[in-house]
Amino acid sequence: MEIIECEGLGVTYPGGVEALKNVDLTIEDGDFVIVVGLSGAGKSTLLRTINRLVEPTTGTIKVDGRVINNLDKKELKEYRSEVGMIFQNFNLVNRSSVLRNVLAGRLREVPTWRTLLGLFPEEDVEEALSCLERVGIKEKADSRADELSGGQQQRVGIARALAQEPKILLADEPVASLDPPTSHAVMQDLKRINEEDGITTLVNLHFIDLAQEYGEKIIGLREGELVYQGPASKVTEAKFEEIYGRSITADDQLTAGGEADV
Ligand SMILES: Nc1ncnc2c1ncn2[C@@H]1O[C@H](COP(=O)(O)OP(=O)(O)O)[C@@H](O)[C@H]1O
Ligand SMILES: [Mg+2]
Repeated sequence: MEIIECEGLGVTYPGGVEALKNVDLTIEDGDFVIVVGLSGAGKSTLLRTINRLVEPTTGTIKVDGRVINNLDKKELKEYRSEVGMIFQNFNLVNRSSVLRNVLAGRLREVPTWRTLLGLFPEEDVEEALSCLERVGIKEKADSRADELSGGQQQRVGIARALAQEPKILLADEPVASLDPPTSHAVMQDLKRINEEDGITTLVNLHFIDLAQEYGEKIIGLREGELVYQGPASKVTEAKFEEIYGRSITADDQLTAGGEADV
């Protein structure tokens, strides 16, 4: 069953940049999709549009069969609670504890005065701890977020998104700030969670070796246009060159070596 369907999707930013042009896209429920393309190709815009942080200029986006173009404020809030976001720079509250950062993923129903006093519902705390356990850093729950390594901080980001119990996970260059072994470790976490929970996952990347190793499906964007969607196994180097519009260079490959910092 399709979970995300884009038809004729276009995004033009104020100022006139056409970041997405007439994109037709189908993502099946439970898919693990890697979105590739050069810097500026529209990868972030695609994720931000699916999360409705950016409004489509043309076309439609359907999620779970429902058009999400014109949600009102309340519907938008509900919709966003179903979509977990993971960021390149983790977007943690550095001075807060790891646990509090993960609890932020669950703060839908808790009144502000309670959160200010640190009175979190027991079941939320349990759930947050179990999310941390799933990414292997439960013992860091009481540490300050900024005391953690980059790989650990990204795991907190993943745990926070999981605590939301999302239908869809969107990860925008989640390994771009990490060293190669840690990048692999984080990709493996995302893939494992996708396999265990069946959460549809889209990951933006620009390293072609990571895309081939972890992607089941690949979406290729070039200057805002969808130039490939299909199985990762069919994406040859020639196909990558078509997506990138130039020859593949060493900088397009991550390649591993050494030990992960987590
Ligand atoms: N908020 C914005 N306002 C104006 N232009 C933007 C904005 N965000 C991105 N762009 C432009 O849209 C194009 C696509 O950007 P982006 O989606 O960030 O690509 P990618 O993530 O693949 O690097 C680029 O030309 C970029 O400069
Ligand atoms: Mg980007």
